[in-house]
Amino acid sequence: MYKNEVAFELQPKVIDETRQGETLTIERPKTVKSNGKKFYIESYGCQMNFADSEVVASILGGAGFDSTNEFEEADVILLNTCAIRENAETRIRHRLQHFSGIKRRRKGALIGVLGCMAERLKEKFLEQEKLVDIVAGPDAYRSLPGLIEEAGSGQKAVNVLLSREETYAEISPVRLNSNGISAFISIMRGCDNMCSFCVVPFTRGRERSRDHRSIVAEARDLYEKGYREVTLLGQNVDSYRFSEDPQLVGKKLTDAKYDERVINFAKLIELVALISPDLRVRFSTSHPKDMTDDVLHTMAKYPNICKYVHLPVQSGSSRVLELMNRTYDRAWYIERMEAIKRIIPEAAISTDIITGFCTETEEDHQETLSMMELVGYSMAYMFFYSERPGTLAAKKYADDIPEEIKKRRLQEVVDLQLKHSLVHNKRDVGKTFEVLVEGPSHRSDKDLCGRNTQNKMVVFPKVDVKPGTYVQVKVTSCTGGTLKGEVVAP
Ligand code: 5AD
Ligand code: SF4
Repeated sequence: MYKNEVAFELQPKVIDETRQGETLTIERPKTVKSNGKKFYIESYGCQMNFADSEVVASILGGAGFDSTNEFEEADVILLNTCAIRENAETRIRHRLQHFSGIKRRRKGALIGVLGCMAERLKEKFLEQEKLVDIVAGPDAYRSLPGLIEEAGSGQKAVNVLLSREETYAEISPVRLNSNGISAFISIMRGCDNMCSFCVVPFTRGRERSRDHRSIVAEARDLYEKGYREVTLLGQNVDSYRFSEDPQLVGKKLTDAKYDERVINFAKLIELVALISPDLRVRFSTSHPKDMTDDVLHTMAKYPNICKYVHLPVQSGSSRVLELMNRTYDRAWYIERMEAIKRIIPEAAISTDIITGFCTETEEDHQETLSMMELVGYSMAYMFFYSERPGTLAAKKYADDIPEEIKKRRLQEVVDLQLKHSLVHNKRDVGKTFEVLVEGPSHRSDKDLCGRNTQNKMVVFPKVDVKPGTYVQVKVTSCTGGTLKGEVVAP
């Protein structure tokens, strides 16, 4: 667990602590000749990074590499990194030390860093960490085979160019260590929002949407392979926009006169939902300024679009939201939250909160707590502010809240959320939910587990069904993190 963040549930998916450092192995396509080399990849950070590692694995497999989950036998060790908070970077630096003996033990072994920290530090990474041979940013993965070759000939290899077009649309990610039931599909890359605390616009570049035809084709292919749940991923999914009309290439698709010819996010989720009523559709992350009623009505219309919205508030104070450059205020957020409750009464809402942002007063903090009371979030990812070099906040405002105060406020936020999660779950006791069976529960193989539409983990005594089946589960008890129950009908 990072020092400054608390994600206390087994629920997805901003930073899923159970997945940090996860490795990935693939089968090289049969049509591709082996180049005799193996790669090893570890992933950190958000779901986008995990999805990117699957793209990386696919590119390397296509170039003849095999994979291994033993770094000692790898020719190339890759770390797909996160830069969102300082602790995420500290963790990567410690991890790199772990690999320091490998070059002695295995002649010619190469170490590469990918992802957001690579993009942020660029060539500096090579100066700071002598061990590193390859630095590749999130838009440079197609060039990885070339970079590995270059580094193999003794030169350090760097590609941190950001692109305005790259979406890796036609690269089909490999998903060998998934549960075979639920998969992530990246629908857009980058972010144009420039929240003042956030390093993402600098590490992942400009926002661009992936061709909806390749998204739908990928979702359909997953469904045909037995998957029953897809989560559409983007930093800001509500601003998804794509047009297949060649006349609109390079045009600003937000202009209302193009609406007829543009697939927006509401249309996209509908297209994916129509693949099959048995395929659940989820998405992450929504932005309060862009989440339209259109999206909410589409969610309400299709039973297979899950009734769950992750809507990061960050702060409950309009003054702080302005400094954060979130472009909405408290009243706007409350209006959006009320729209969710009006249009999809059964929806669960979760959020992200930052405590101790620059100049945050005790009153601002109280407004965050009161926002939590007002919404009653089912779950939250909570952080204290960590200044990131190069961001607008780092340039414009002093990081002036002492660490003890940031942490004390974070603790208050966490305590309140624990209370709310429990209350939220207690309300579900006695209700019956449709649960998509994922497999044995993490705690006991006598139990199965899966999620309900509100994204709550439900655990129940084993019955004779395969993962990927829908069952009706009546909830009999709960904790703050899980619902417990029993199957009432298959
Ligand atoms: N400090 C603390 N938390 C941050 N986040 C993003 N940048 C920072 C930062 N500099 C949090 C936000 C965002 C989530 C992914 O991470 O809450 O929604
Ligand atoms: Fe960062 Fe804001 Fe973009 Fe989210 S929406 S990635 S917090 S800049």
